[in-house]
Amino acid sequence: MKYRRLGRSGLKVSEIGLGSWLTYGSATAEDTAKACIHQAFKLGINFFDTSNSYAGAEQVVGSTLKEYPRSSYVLATKLFFPQGEGVNERGLSRKHIVEQCEASLKRLGTDYIDLYQCHRFDQDTPIDETLRALDDLTAQGKILYAGVSEWTAAQIAEAAHIGKDQRFRPLISNQPIYNMFERYIEKEDVIRTTEANGIGLIVFSPLAQGVLTGKYKPGQGIPQDSRAANDQTNWVINSYLREDVLACTVKLEALAAELGATLSQFALAWVLRQPNVSSAIIGSSRVSQIEENVKAVDLELTADVLARTEEILSEVSGFAPLR
Ligand SMILES: NC(=O)c1ccc[n+]([C@@H]2O[C@H](COP(=O)([O-])OP(=O)(O)OC[C@H]3O[C@@H](n4cnc5c(N)ncnc54)[C@H](OP(=O)(O)O)[C@@H]3O)[C@@H](O)[C@H]2O)c1
Repeated sequence: MKYRRLGRSGLKVSEIGLGSWLTYGSATAEDTAKACIHQAFKLGINFFDTSNSYAGAEQVVGSTLKEYPRSSYVLATKLFFPQGEGVNERGLSRKHIVEQCEASLKRLGTDYIDLYQCHRFDQDTPIDETLRALDDLTAQGKILYAGVSEWTAAQIAEAAHIGKDQRFRPLISNQPIYNMFERYIEKEDVIRTTEANGIGLIVFSPLAQGVLTGKYKPGQGIPQDSRAANDQTNWVINSYLREDVLACTVKLEALAAELGATLSQFALAWVLRQPNVSSAIIGSSRVSQIEENVKAVDLELTADVLARTEEILSEVSGFAPLR
């Protein structure tokens, strides 16, 4: 495994991180989930991502990692999405942040959260209220660092400006979607803005939920035991399952084979080519996927390979399924 600093912070995270959305605590059986987390840890993954909105994921991730020294892993969770019907049971107000931090600490079974992330931007709360609440939790030792997820470049720039002005501890991360098909962070200035403000990127769905592994082939139907085959988990991946996208993955897989790599390793190395991407968070429903995917950290992509990748990707357009 290789490690990168998370933005300007001193925190080092593994280039491949492990997430828990639509898997642990829900679609993946608990013993398999635990086996995946153990194998990830053994292979050097130290960054584990979850959320208060991922069904029972916080409990599964927290209880499994408890077997290891607390200093040996980085535990990240998030808040924003509704936790109940009440008007204050959502968003990024001081009240909700403080209450949800306590709730996550209990579910994770830990004394502190390494990275507490605002899962989305909250239009109904002044940014300074959110930043001050996060700063207070940091001062209390309940969280060590704070970050955001899917904030726009303008929102990130404003938060960084207010943070500096008010002398809050700086945000250190942003978690956007990023993969060969979903590249808005390149076009909408998110990469440059985060880098300029010392904020590292932890990118999610780097394998386009499994489409960039080559398991979905044009005209061959949906493989059993896949995310797309499960009615509880296929609500987002379905938007990728277009003939032109799948035809493109066949070409990408052939290019990966020339490099002696699988498509998933190639797709992960491709997002990691960006220096401000600190970690690519994968999901995994079985141990073998983690074993295959971590090998991406040793794959170097030449300028020629990147140019050929662009050519293949130019055949697919009109992507904006998940934000
Ligand atoms: N901040 C946010 O708003 C946000 C949103 C989404 C996700 N996330 C985070 O990002 C994490 C990763 O997202 P994701 O699950 O969409 O990532 P992904 O890595 O793009 O997709 C993961 C899925 O692809 C399949 N897969 C992975 N490796 C494979 C391999 N080598 N061969 C075959 N299939 C393979 C597995 O699904 P099957 O085996 O079931 O087919 C796996 O669950 C989440 O767990 C979560 O922590 C954050």
